[in-house]
Amino acid sequence: MPSVAVVGASGCVGEAMLELLRESALGEEPPRLFGSARSAGRAVPWKEGFELEIEELNESADLSDIDVALFAASGDVARKWAPWFIDEGVAVVDNSSAFRLEPGVPLVIPEINGELVSSAPAIIANPNCSTILLLLAIAPLRALGPYRVIADTYQAVSGAGRGGLEALERERARGDFQEGNPFPFPIEGNLFPLIGEVGEDGMTSEERKMLDESRKILDWPDLRVHTTCVRVPVERCHSLAVTLVYPKEISRADAAALLQSAKGTTYISDPSRPPLPGPLSRTHSVHVGRLRRTGERVLQLWVVGDQILKGAALNAMQIAELWRSK
Ligand SMILES: NC(=O)c1ccc[n+]([C@@H]2O[C@H](COP(=O)([O-])OP(=O)(O)OC[C@H]3O[C@@H](n4cnc5c(N)ncnc54)[C@H](OP(=O)(O)O)[C@@H]3O)[C@@H](O)[C@H]2O)c1
Repeated sequence: MPSVAVVGASGCVGEAMLELLRESALGEEPPRLFGSARSAGRAVPWKEGFELEIEELNESADLSDIDVALFAASGDVARKWAPWFIDEGVAVVDNSSAFRLEPGVPLVIPEINGELVSSAPAIIANPNCSTILLLLAIAPLRALGPYRVIADTYQAVSGAGRGGLEALERERARGDFQEGNPFPFPIEGNLFPLIGEVGEDGMTSEERKMLDESRKILDWPDLRVHTTCVRVPVERCHSLAVTLVYPKEISRADAAALLQSAKGTTYISDPSRPPLPGPLSRTHSVHVGRLRRTGERVLQLWVVGDQILKGAALNAMQIAELWRSK
């Protein structure tokens, strides 16, 4: 059985990976855990009362017993260390944006393009969390014809990692807003349409990722994706209001049938029961509801998914399991 490493085991995504590994065949052997000097030496619960210790990731680490590494740290960490893992014969599934758009690096949502995963010790990139949730919902609806996408996101604070959760807790408890740690504006009782850096064209990096990554994953270079990404004071689960505009008339019943049989999603046909982030936290399936035809050529839907699970840790685990099956 291959042995697994988690880089960034103390973070939101790394912790979710460990929970999934406990239940996966990939966790038959205890994983190696890596972090920075901040968490090195910390004990983390594993199975049956056993604990694992986080090791500092540095040049003296011996990678010889590792086959696949799940990276759940920043882009800078991935850029610095992932190439070394590859040189040592370790496959890397990376959650950061560092390699996603590099030619030759597969950017994978298993339900959509899992065939791109091979057994080679190479980098496989996990897409942006909002992009994964969006594409799982809309990829099946491409069967009705090509579309233009308008998607507004309502993104949970944990999308910014532990620091995001801590900022919401701090503001709730003491009204203590700390600019830039990690948010640019207060989040308690507030929201803001600014996730990531603003580019010269006025788009944020999060909005740019949704456009560029959707095009790569769907292999659709001129796909139009118009997004506004908004941070909201919700702990976990991103929500998306999605509009699809088609060039010709479409049927709501055909769309519902496609959503009904889609992989990785749960279609809620009752419009009075929209999927909600609170109750769906820690669930695996992406939920799609409120399907409407609001014009002869227009479909609208509401999508909710746990961005730490299917938007990151779960998608990465599914990639690693595919890699193992090759
Ligand atoms: N949170 C989400 O919803 C989400 C969704 C999709 C993708 N992602 C991506 O997943 C990655 C992890 O996100 P997160 O939310 O889990 O962040 P996080 O909670 O802030 O955790 C970051 C992790 O990186 C580790 N780290 C920092 N410097 C390191 C170093 N030099 N060497 C090794 N490890 C180091 C930290 O370990 P220490 O505690 O030791 O510093 C920590 O475990 C990011 O690239 C993020 O963009 C996150």
